[in-house]
Amino acid sequence: MAPSLPLVPSLDLPVVLLSHRGPVSFGRDPVSGERTASRGAGGLVTALSGLAGHLERAVWVCVAAGQADGEVSAEAGDAPLRLALDGDPRILGEGDVADREVAVRLVDVPAEVHEPFYGVIANPLLWFVQHRLHDLKTSPSIGREERAAFEDGYVVANTLAADAVVAQVERAGGKAIVLLHDYHFYLVGRLVRERCPDAVINHFVHIPWPGPEAWQVLPPDMRERLLLGLLGCDVVAFHTRADARAFVLCAQELLDLPVDLSAMTVTTGGRTVHVRAYPISIDVAALEQQASTDASDEHLADLDERLAGGQLVLRVDRTDPSKNIVRGFTAYDLLLTEHPELHGRVLFLALLQPSRQDVPEYAQYLADIGAAAASVNARHGTGDWQPVDLRLASDMDLATAAYRRCDVLVVNAVADGMNLVAKEAVIVNERDMVLALSEATGAHDELGSFAVTLHPFDVAQQADALHAALTMSPVLRRDRREHAAQVVHRNDVRRWLTVQLNDLADLRHG
Ligand code: F6P
Repeated sequence: MAPSLPLVPSLDLPVVLLSHRGPVSFGRDPVSGERTASRGAGGLVTALSGLAGHLERAVWVCVAAGQADGEVSAEAGDAPLRLALDGDPRILGEGDVADREVAVRLVDVPAEVHEPFYGVIANPLLWFVQHRLHDLKTSPSIGREERAAFEDGYVVANTLAADAVVAQVERAGGKAIVLLHDYHFYLVGRLVRERCPDAVINHFVHIPWPGPEAWQVLPPDMRERLLLGLLGCDVVAFHTRADARAFVLCAQELLDLPVDLSAMTVTTGGRTVHVRAYPISIDVAALEQQASTDASDEHLADLDERLAGGQLVLRVDRTDPSKNIVRGFTAYDLLLTEHPELHGRVLFLALLQPSRQDVPEYAQYLADIGAAAASVNARHGTGDWQPVDLRLASDMDLATAAYRRCDVLVVNAVADGMNLVAKEAVIVNERDMVLALSEATGAHDELGSFAVTLHPFDVAQQADALHAALTMSPVLRRDRREHAAQVVHRNDVRRWLTVQLNDLADLRHG
C-alpha cells in the first residue's frame, strides 16, 4: 500500500466515520447475476471517499442499502470489509493491495426500519424542516404514523448505527475520533457518548440549520431528543457560521441551556459542546481529472457544435424541491418574454438527477419540473430552437463538459447547506462563466462577492440577474471567475477535513 498522506500529523487515534450512504454500493448484474460494485453517490460521499483512503486506521460505517449490500454485510460479519478506492471499487481479499483503501462496516437496517427512517422521517420531515419546505397550511402533519416512524424507524436505525460505531470504537480500545455525518443520525452522538466516554465525537450537519421557530413545527419531545442527541457530541459542525449560530440559539431557546454566543459553546450535563463552522469543498485535482477524459471532450465538442456560438445557461442538480428548479424555469420564461433578442441564441441545459422517488413530494416535484420545462418550450420554442433541454440522468462526463462550456451556472436553491456544483463549475469552466448563486446557499458566503446573487423566491429578480449575467462584460466575467476559482483552490476538501481533525486533536489534548 502506498504511504498515507500526512493529513493530520498529530492524529494519534483511529477514526470512525458514520454516514448513511457509503463509498460503494453493491448490486447484481441482471444478465450474469454477478455481484457489481459502484461508487456511492452524493456530495458528502464524494468528499469523504476522496479523503478516507488517506486516513490511517479509519473505519467507515454506513447503511447496507439494498439486498446486495445486505448479503455483503452478512458475509463479512462483524469485521470491516477492506475496499479499494483507487480505480473501480472492489473488495480486497487477504494479501490484496491497493493504492488507496478504506475499511467499511455495513450496518444492516431491515427494510421495515429503513423505510420509515429514510422515507418518512429523514427525508420528508427533517429535510423539509431544515430547508423550510413545508407548506404550513397543510404540512407537516404529525400523526400516529409519523410518531411510529420516528420510534420504530429513526430511533431504531440510529441505535443500530450507534451499536456499529461503538463496536468499532471498542475494537480500537475505547479511544477514537468519531465523525458522524448528516441528518440521518442526530441521535447517535449521545448513544455513543454513553458507552464510549473517551471517544472524541464530532457531528457534521451538511444541510441548513434553521432557527428555533422552524424547529417548533416538531413536537417538543421529538425536537428535544434530536437536539440532545447532537449535544452528546464534543463538537457539532456546520458549513456556515449562520447555521452554527442558529444551532446555539436552538439549544438556548428550545432546551433552556446556558450558551455562549461569542465562544459558540453550549453547556450541558457538566460538559462543554463546541459549535463550529467548516465550509466543505471539492477535490480539485480529482475534478480536473474527470473533466479531461475523452468522454468529457466528446460531449464538449457536441455542445459546441449544437450551440454554434450561442450562450449556455446550465444547472446541475438532484430533483429536490429545495433546489428550486421550477422557479428557475419560470424566471427563464420571463427572461425570454422580456428579451426576445435572446431567442435562438441561448439554451438552458438542465442536468437533473431524479432523487428520492419513493417519497411522494419528490415524485410530484419531478412531474412539476417536466411540466415547467415543457411550458417554456411550448411558449417560446420554434421548429429549430427549443430553449430548454431537460436531461433526467446522472452523467458526470456530460456534467463536466457542460461546466466547461457554460456561460452562466444557475444555483437558485431555496436553501442549501453548501452547494458543491457552484464550486465545481468555477474550477473547470473554460469560458469565464458567471455564477448566478442563491443567497440562501452556504457557498454564497465564500463565492457571493464573485457571483450574481439570486433571491430564491423573487423570479423577477432572477430573470433580471440572468440577463445581467448573460450580458456581463468579458473583463468582469474573467475577474470574477478567477477570484472564485482561487477561493475554491485555497479551501479544498482536504483542507476542510484537515482543519477539523486538527481542531479535534487540540480539543483532546487541550
Ligand atoms: O448532505 C446532504 C446529502 O447527504 C448530500 O450528500 C447528497 O447530495 C444528498 O443529501 C443525498 O441524498 P440521498 O442520500 O437521499 O440521495
